[in-house]
Amino acid sequence: MPLHVSTHPLVAHKLAILRDKRTEPKKFRELVRELTWLLGYEAMADLATRPEPIETPLEPITAARLEPRVGLIPILRAGLGMVDAMLELIPTAEVWHIGLYRDERTLKPVEYYNKLPDAATVQVCLVLDPMLATGGSAAATIDLLKTWGAARIKQVSLIAAPEGVATLKAAHHDVDVHVAALDSHLNERGYIVPGLGDAGDRQFGTFAGPGSEPGHGPDDGTAEVVRRLQRDLEP
Ligand code: PRP
Ligand code: URA
Repeated sequence: MPLHVSTHPLVAHKLAILRDKRTEPKKFRELVRELTWLLGYEAMADLATRPEPIETPLEPITAARLEPRVGLIPILRAGLGMVDAMLELIPTAEVWHIGLYRDERTLKPVEYYNKLPDAATVQVCLVLDPMLATGGSAAATIDLLKTWGAARIKQVSLIAAPEGVATLKAAHHDVDVHVAALDSHLNERGYIVPGLGDAGDRQFGTFAGPGSEPGHGPDDGTAEVVRRLQRDLEP
């Protein structure tokens, strides 16, 4: 499974501000959008084009037009902040939302919204989610898209943990993953370290107190889930 970690200095700079705990939701949303634009540009670098004859004001030429139909698949909630930037890059894309949240105790994804029609309407799917932590949400979404009939799938995330990359590699080795950074590890509550905290809460300003803080509060058994993922990573 090809993992593409951006080396662009603008990506590194914007990510530094995004990670900073002092960055408030308005600025955070702007940065999610700008980073998505830069990562999206990289992620779509290998999309196929077809020749199309056109006439410029000076002469006829054979120009290149984008060939595949592209679908954007934001995982709710946090993936929503990545949609507008992608639509600026590719305004003809279809947007198919998938609603998943991570159960706080098991860290497993729970599906709550899926309106995919019976058969795939696009050839290339870009799954949008800022955080690839255990990889459970991404893997479940990609399962849905493969059953749907998507021919090609790419995952675009801002930050990945090694545990999440390993999950995707095991379940979906044919999916390209584009990220701004590959971080160190997951903490006992399944949050990416150093990460940026909770991407949904930081975008939408929904901070519910110490119990929901990414480094604190009871772990309710999540530590064992994380230890299992980390054992799988050992050589
Ligand atoms: C976050 C994030 C991903 C998921 C990543 O969503 O946006 O969807 O966790 O974790 P995983 O790789 O371990 O599955 P969350 O469940 O917090 O839902 P939200 O976006 O509604 O806040
Ligand atoms: N979801 C987030 O928003 N952040 C993490 O670090 C892990 C999952």
